[in-house]
Formats: sequence, C-alpha cells, structure tokens
Amino acid sequence: MSNQVKIFDTTLRDGEQALPASLTVKEKLQIAFAIERLGVDIIEAGFPVSSPGDFASVQSIAREIKNATVCGLSRALEKDIDACGEALKVANQFRIHTFIATSDIHVGAKLKKSQEEIVEMAVRAIKHARRYTDDVEFSCEDAGRTHIDYLCRMVEAAITAGATTVNIPDTVGYTTPTEFGGIIKNLFDRVPNIDKATISVHCHNDLGLAVANSLAAVEYGARQVEATINGIGERAGNCSLEEIAMILQTRQAMLGLNTNINSHEISRTSKLVSQLCNMPVQANKAIVGANAFSHSSGIHQDGVLKAQNTYEIMTPESVGINKNNLNLTSRSGRHVIKHRLTELGYKQTDYDLEAIYSAFLKLADKKGQVFDYDLEALLFFDQQKQDEAYFELLYLQANSGREIIPSATVKMRIGEKEITESAIGNGPVDAAFNAITKAIGHNRVDVVDFKLDSKGEGADALAQVSVIAEYNGRRFNGIGLATDIVESGVKALIYVLNNTHLADQIDQQKKQQVNIAGV
Ligand code: KIV
Ligand code: ZN
Repeated sequence: MSNQVKIFDTTLRDGEQALPASLTVKEKLQIAFAIERLGVDIIEAGFPVSSPGDFASVQSIAREIKNATVCGLSRALEKDIDACGEALKVANQFRIHTFIATSDIHVGAKLKKSQEEIVEMAVRAIKHARRYTDDVEFSCEDAGRTHIDYLCRMVEAAITAGATTVNIPDTVGYTTPTEFGGIIKNLFDRVPNIDKATISVHCHNDLGLAVANSLAAVEYGARQVEATINGIGERAGNCSLEEIAMILQTRQAMLGLNTNINSHEISRTSKLVSQLCNMPVQANKAIVGANAFSHSSGIHQDGVLKAQNTYEIMTPESVGINKNNLNLTSRSGRHVIKHRLTELGYKQTDYDLEAIYSAFLKLADKKGQVFDYDLEALLFFDQQKQDEAYFELLYLQANSGREIIPSATVKMRIGEKEITESAIGNGPVDAAFNAITKAIGHNRVDVVDFKLDSKGEGADALAQVSVIAEYNGRRFNGIGLATDIVESGVKALIYVLNNTHLADQIDQQKKQQVNIAGV
C-alpha cells in the first residue's frame, strides 16, 4: 500500500456552508489559490446545483486552478451531477463527488427509502458521473453510524459501479478513534474490491475527535483525508487540515506517511481564511493559534532559549511564522517592504507594491512604527479592493462626544452619481450608516452583526470592522480597515453593498442564460 496520503480540502464547501455569510466568487478564488499553493491534492470548490453563485464560483475555480484537482459536490441525483459536470468541464483535472446517506437513521427518517433503493441510487449516480469523468468520489453520508454489514455492501457496490475514491464520513462526529479505525479496518478486511479505490475519511468534530479519528483511519489504510483550514465546517467543524498535516509531518518517522503539503504556507493560508470567512481562530488552537508557539512560564522560556526543542516539537518557521527584526518606519524604502513581505511568504504577484507602499507610508506617518501584522493587514485589504466598485466612499466626517448628538456626513459615488448626505444616530457609526442609507435612498441592507477588532497592539492599532448584513434573504460579509473606527465601519458596510451588487449581477446573468436556453 502506498504511503502517500492525499489531502482533500473542503474549506470552500463544508467550511463555507457553515459561515455566517457567504463568500463572493473573488474571495473563494483567493482562498482556492492559497489552498493550491499549500499543496493540497483536491479542492472541493462547492456544490454547484445549490445556487447560481455557487455554480459561478466552482466554474471560476475550475478555470483558474491548474495544479490541484477541482471537485464539486452533488447529491446522488442526475441534475446535481449534471450541474457539477457543467461547472467543472473547464478544469485541467476535475472530480465529481456524489453522496447519499447510509445509516438507518438517515435512510429511514430522512430519505424514507429501503436499503436496496439507496444502493441502486448510488450505483446510478456513480455511473452517471462517470460519463463526465473517470475521477468519481462516492460518500456514504453518516457512515460512522451505519451498520458495518451494510457499509461493506455499499462500498463494494460503489467501487463496482466505478467510484475511484470511496469516502467514509463521520458526519456527526460520533465515533471514537478506536471505533472509527475499526470501521476502516473492517472495510479493508471484508470488501473484496477495496484495492480498486482510494479510501477516504471525512470526520466532523462534534466531540473534538475529528483529527484523532482521521489519524486512526490513515493508520488502518485510508489514503485520503478530507479537511478544512482552521477546522471550519458544519457545527463544531471538520478535521483541521493544518493539524492532520503537521501530525503526519512531525511524526513521519513513526507513521511513515507523507503528504504533498508545503507546511510553510500554513500560517498565511490560515490567516487568509480566518479573515475572509470572518471566523476568528482561538489563541490556543494547535498550529495556527496566536499562542501556539509562545512560551509563557519562566521555566519554559529559559528552556527554549537554551535549546528550542525543550518545549517546541516543531518550529514556528516550519508553519510559515517568521519573526521580524526589521524596524519599519516611514523612512523604510520600497525594497525593504518587498523584502519583508517575501520573508512573510508573499510573492510579488500577490500584491501591488506601489499600492502597498503608499498605504504603508500613510500608516507609518500615523503610527510611527509599522509591524508585520500591520503590513499583512494592508496587504489583505489591498487584495480585497473591489474592482469597478459600484459604491465608493469619497468623503467622511463624523462627530461624537459627551452631551452632543452624534452626526455624520458622507459623500459617495453610487454608480455614476456623486451624492452627499448627513444624518444623526445613536453613535458616530450609526450616524454614518444612516447617512449612507439616505445617500442610497432606501434601506438596502439590514445590518445584523458589527464586530470591531484591533489588528495588532496598542491604542494606535489598526481597527478592523466586520459587518454582516442581510439582503434579499441572504447574508453578506464585509470588512473594513482604518486607524479610525468609524471609517473602518463605513468601509465594511460599503464592501457589503458592493457584494450585494455583484450578487445581483450574477443572478441577472443566470436569468439571461436561462431565458436564452428556454427560447
Ligand atoms: O459530513 C458529511 O457527511 C459530508 C458529506 C457530503 C461528505 O459533508
Ligand atoms: Zn461534512
């Protein structure tokens, strides 16, 4: 048996489906590029039949990603599989992933079908998917709670029908490592054609065992692990990609297993996903938490200074954390900024040096010294620049204080028009948001969440605001960055407004395509 474990990333599918607000096509592409650079083998880009937006993002990821296999999810239904085939056909290499539930609980209560009918549906779906590609994955949803005899029968039938990967999900994160490893062992012992497919696992984290269960599975022969960056996903999330990858790397001598993951890309990818998905990473999270490599107690600090491996089983550098010893101020030149960004793992193609440098100078003038976290925040926001934005902030003034009524004035470009409006509110942010509503002429979105975070340390830190707002029954996420809290909030709202405009355009295009096809 090969000792190579494939890493299947489902951040953009299982991870995305659990986010407080959906990602735009551009944001998904950005994540897909980062994940590709991380070295994953397969990127599950979405569930094309679920919405026009999902179809469009799977299609653009399929078009742009060259080194990883791009995958789309489908239920065991022809129309889902056709949507996958259609969205993915532009890819260099693609996979169709089709699934159906196999546990008694799901088959009886949810699907209301007999076990026989479920096998037939799965076989039909796999054969249909094989018309589009010879790379077909089949998942037995809730395999962790499926009777082992039926699971063996299903896996055998799926492989006979043409599935090249068979995935065994612990959909509700119910099993324990010994139990889950036992299921994989049973499959290898009992399914006669098991060697004709790769056995994959997809573990959820409801009991905090997703990584442990995935590890047990590879020890018993699974050769694909499905995971997400920062472990995001339904409920308590999925197996954390960075954790399973670093376990296999750090304990390679004992486990004897390899992956294609370039661990130096982990920290950067984790930050990008956390920012774009508006999902903060807990400070003590393994591998990517802010404290994962910091030593607090005097005894530990003393030990690490004497020999790093006293308290570090892997180096921060191995996951892409590089400590700064450059003092970045307004006297630092472009080449210093470029050099530092390169050290932080960013390629020059990732950013516009002129734009970053000018933002850096403005920030350095305000703050004096600029730190890595400031630079990364500037870079992130440069990448988020919305091309041909429909809504643009041209001017903002806000007044607030004790015993005065907060007020704000905004000047905005909306399409071709420039509009100035003023309003009052219960605080300066509220006043500025009210002024924007007046400029638009109606309440376009309902703000349901507003979060303020400081990027870095001290009272002069950059303020990052994330806003979640509802528009036409969907939730959109926006982020803004500035040293001024009100400006940061306004930028976040404008970001949301532009995303709603983009979503309208995609829906419009889809309607036109349907009309043309219908004629
Ligand atoms: O958790 C699960 O069972 C899934 C399947 C669709 C693979 O996400
Ligand atoms: Zn899942």
